[in-house]
Amino acid sequence: METYQLRDGLQLPKIGFGTYQLNGQIGVNAMTSALENGYRLLDSAFNYENEGAVGEAIRRSSVPRSEIIVTSKLPGRHHRYSEAITTIQESLWRAGLDYYDLYLIHWPNPQADHYVEAWQALIEAQKFGLIRSIGVCNFLPEQIDRLEKETGVLPTVNQVELHPYFNQKTQRDYDRTKGILTQAWSPLGRASHVLQEPLLRDLAEKYHKNVGQIILRWELQLGTMPIPKSAHSKRQIGNLQVFDFELTATELEQINGLTKVDGRNKDQDPAVYQEF
Ligand SMILES: NC(=O)c1ccc[n+]([C@@H]2O[C@H](COP(=O)([O-])OP(=O)(O)OC[C@H]3O[C@@H](n4cnc5c(N)ncnc54)[C@H](OP(=O)(O)O)[C@@H]3O)[C@@H](O)[C@H]2O)c1
Repeated sequence: METYQLRDGLQLPKIGFGTYQLNGQIGVNAMTSALENGYRLLDSAFNYENEGAVGEAIRRSSVPRSEIIVTSKLPGRHHRYSEAITTIQESLWRAGLDYYDLYLIHWPNPQADHYVEAWQALIEAQKFGLIRSIGVCNFLPEQIDRLEKETGVLPTVNQVELHPYFNQKTQRDYDRTKGILTQAWSPLGRASHVLQEPLLRDLAEKYHKNVGQIILRWELQLGTMPIPKSAHSKRQIGNLQVFDFELTATELEQINGLTKVDGRNKDQDPAVYQEF
């Protein structure tokens, strides 16, 4: 698969695999299938309670650990420096792994306001060799500016809600100027009514693709990295078959036009929303 290169040199596949709600045996089966179907990045989180399933899927698959990018995330309740360090260790033990390729702060939680401490912990954990690359999720420009100002270290990745109803232009532009890769969570809008959009359906017909593939292709052409989740092998395969066609500049603009100010799926605005 084509790759993106992070500012610290780490190469990430252009599409990753989301694992939210893939737990237990069903989760292991879905993730093993994803690896066998060609995915090389698994996106997990301490709060998904499936780091164990991620580790098990990796061990059961035929793909060497060294070829897989494994992501996990620090939950909001453990932003304090010493708690963050032990949580990263616990995160690794849950998975049975000795390093994560990518570790992200899950939410900034601005009212609690301990995300700079959490960032310092990620910086230290990277020095210990527990993590290869460090980043954030759901961070706004001013929050990233603060990380840079107080620690001198910028994230490599910012993972944000991004789909046709919420295309994150401002955040993407900011991330690009800072050399930060924008990852798209809920890239298919969690299979909501966006899949029924007439424009997307027309494009699907034109390119002999399905609507999900049109959306994922648009996200790639924006320079972002989608991490679609699917429990089904057929959809997992389909979601990777997006490297053999190209949307025109006009079509990209038309899809950009679907965005809405209140287009988030669940109104999770990181300026006020907190998750622990
Ligand atoms: N950092 C954060 O705060 C954050 C927040 C949310 C999510 N995430 C990450 O982002 C990943 C992806 O987001 P998500 O799981 O919320 O939503 P998503 O990937 O946008 O959508 C997943 C849903 O779409 C269905 N689906 C998958 N491919 C499809 C296709 N080609 N056509 C129609 N339906 C399709 C799946 O059903 P089946 O499984 O039945 O196929 C599932 O119901 C998560 O799994 C998680 O890793 C991160």
